[in-house]
Amino acid sequence: MPVKILMVCLGNICRSPLAEGILQSKLPSDKFTVDSAGTGDWHAGQGPDRRSVATAKGRGLDISCQKARQIKPADFTNFDHIYVMDSSNLRDVTKLAPTQEAKAKVKLMMDEVFPGQKVDVPDPYYGGPDGFEKVYDMLDEACTLVAQKLIKEHA
Ligand code: 4NP
Repeated sequence: MPVKILMVCLGNICRSPLAEGILQSKLPSDKFTVDSAGTGDWHAGQGPDRRSVATAKGRGLDISCQKARQIKPADFTNFDHIYVMDSSNLRDVTKLAPTQEAKAKVKLMMDEVFPGQKVDVPDPYYGGPDGFEKVYDMLDEACTLVAQKLIKEHA
């Protein structure tokens, strides 16, 4: 059984699709599965925002085939690790977690780089392309550390 990791943001079209693609690229696919979801359902069924697709493409990553979906209760049992992008996602996802065990799976993404400092991956939706490049850099750094940790834990 592969270890399953879920990346979560608000719309599942900007940040978490990037996080999914980046982490996937750093883990062996026979041992790990990475998916993403949004706390909201406005964009369910849509592909990632074109700016996320373009930013990923510029770094050699194709995320164009992903489809947005909303997080659901079964995710808390199906996934081993749930990473959220910001403090508002953390509140929303923690509220949905049905058990203490489920709550314990939920972690703030940037805590991997700056433990306990409550650093958000900023929502780039209403900004320019620079915001997407910055988000990519933050996620790339965090995902490198997450991948190292997961590979060590599940070797
Ligand atoms: P994401 O960005 O949470 O990184 O996917 C957003 C996408 C859409 C909206 C907000 C944030 N929206 O309000 O539609």
